[in-house]
Amino acid sequence: PEPFCVLGIETSCDDTAAAVVRSDGTILAEHVVRQDEIHAAHGGVVPGLARDAHRAAIDRVIEWVLRRAFHVGESDDPMAVAAPHLAAVATTMGPGLEICLRVGFHAARQTVERLRALQPASSSRLPLFLSMHHLEAHCLVARRIPPHEPPFPFLVLLASGGHCMLLLARDLGQYSILGGTLDDSIGEAYDKTARLLGLEWGGGGGPALERLAREGNPHAFSFSVPLRQRRDCNFSFAGLKTAVRLAIEKCRRRAADIDEAQPLVQLNRQAAADIAASFQYVAVKHLEERLSLALQWCQAHEPNVRSVVVAGGVAANATVRERLRAVARQAGWTRRCPQPDGSMRDEESVLFPPPRLCTDNGVMVAWAGVERVRRCGDIVGEPDMEDIEVA
Ligand code: KG4
Ligand code: ZN
Repeated sequence: PEPFCVLGIETSCDDTAAAVVRSDGTILAEHVVRQDEIHAAHGGVVPGLARDAHRAAIDRVIEWVLRRAFHVGESDDPMAVAAPHLAAVATTMGPGLEICLRVGFHAARQTVERLRALQPASSSRLPLFLSMHHLEAHCLVARRIPPHEPPFPFLVLLASGGHCMLLLARDLGQYSILGGTLDDSIGEAYDKTARLLGLEWGGGGGPALERLAREGNPHAFSFSVPLRQRRDCNFSFAGLKTAVRLAIEKCRRRAADIDEAQPLVQLNRQAAADIAASFQYVAVKHLEERLSLALQWCQAHEPNVRSVVVAGGVAANATVRERLRAVARQAGWTRRCPQPDGSMRDEESVLFPPPRLCTDNGVMVAWAGVERVRRCGDIVGEPDMEDIEVA
């Protein structure tokens, strides 16, 4: 089939992102404008500020990816050059922050209208306007690169700031939830721990916590692994968060006893690193145990599932990747994969999108759009503002 391109737009939280992806998986252009400096002082995303920043950035982000993708000269109109190549404009409709989603929706609709106006009315190639589910986009981006793309059905561990769940991806738009979080997501737990430790804010608190944890002893504190007594696929991070807060307070008090002049002394770097490493050890242990249960469940009930995808912002973490890979290996999860020389070989069947495609981005939305265009029969109507799904 003839290749086509999709423009993807993502504004569900604090990243203003867009990308153009070709149907063979090639990323023609991608761009993300982050809002870290805006939210850093608040220790978390402030929706009103996020919306204002999206509004300020979105047009320029879209123009930038169109210029880059289609080599548009300075004096040419990027919409006019892009119009014949774009089969669809896909935008995230949720879940996310409503006022932020609206910014992406408006920009996407405006772009579609301009692209359509640039085509002759008789054209059979008017670009589609597609609404994307944020979580589906996180899951599907793992299918972008042949020959490793997992075929349906596959298992997904989605670990992000907004969600923590185990899903069975049966087909496009068809997901069964095997388990979700009873309280916080794992990304929130990383963010809260990072905030308590006073770490810098950049792509959330996770990246700074991951760096600090490398200097610490993961067994310095023994936090208990959540939900050990429940053999299901649910998650819980609230108890761990409280245990971490108490440990930090205790360390502070101990430090204050030594230096009475400063009742609220900062933890020394080693103590902070030990807490970070011990938190991460247990948080990832919880993921390991739940993934392991889900793998067993699949083996018993869904024998056609042969691959696991780990997606969402927390899947960018190197420790998470390494330890979940080991879980799949121990469970014997491999599948036959075609090799470049044409032969077949058993490969480990746990897949992680590249780290930069784990955190929110435009590529995942564009790719989810590519998958939808390929199945045009599924498209029933255009997105409507009323359909925006609030997180
Ligand atoms: O998928 P994402 O970008 O947004 C949501 O859909 O929620 O995930 C953001 C979350 C944040 O909580 C952030 O702290 C976390 O992913 N995160 C990480 C890392 N990079 C991002 N957590 C741990 N280690 C990382 N390297
Ligand atoms: Zn996300």
